[in-house]
Amino acid sequence: MTLAGSAPIRVMFVCLGNICRSPMAEAIFRHRVTQRGLTDRFVIDSCGTGDWHVGGPADERTIRTLQGRSVDIDHVARQLDARTDVDDWDLFVVMDSMNHRDVLKAGIPLEKVRLMRSFVPAHRSMGERAPAVPDPYEGTIDDFASVYEMLVEACDAMIDDLLIAREGDDQPSTKVLP
Ligand code: 4NP
Repeated sequence: MTLAGSAPIRVMFVCLGNICRSPMAEAIFRHRVTQRGLTDRFVIDSCGTGDWHVGGPADERTIRTLQGRSVDIDHVARQLDARTDVDDWDLFVVMDSMNHRDVLKAGIPLEKVRLMRSFVPAHRSMGERAPAVPDPYEGTIDDFASVYEMLVEACDAMIDDLLIAREGDDQPSTKVLP
């Protein structure tokens, strides 16, 4: 890991529509970073590989799930633009194998791409075969609650991993470009 210097780590969460999983991941990650007093260490955003919801809000079930847990969300959906995003972001954190394939196809290099749940210690050795954060769009509010729990676990593990990587005081699983 080469996270030299004190520049913030620029993290882009990616899903398909940018209305369910990646905005929820962005909101949870920001919430946990704020709670831990680490806001100056990260720049955070999210996007979708698809364009169906560009300019619109998060899914109302995403909003309801977060608001019920006192996590703020203020979101306008946008699509990945690999031509500019590739240089603007250090790390693209995708939710499932389809997102993984699609960001690579769009031109994001493999070393900048990680599956969200591969940060969880139990899945770390699985790398690209780590379990997905399943798409809840066609599901129920309970599916959104389940996604929320997965994302809380993964966001906390991710913060730990990235900070360890930056400080170089342990064995991070992440390789983030400087
Ligand atoms: P997301 O969920 O990728 O977690 O935002 C979806 C949202 C919308 C669609 C698919 C997945 N869609 O097909 O419109």
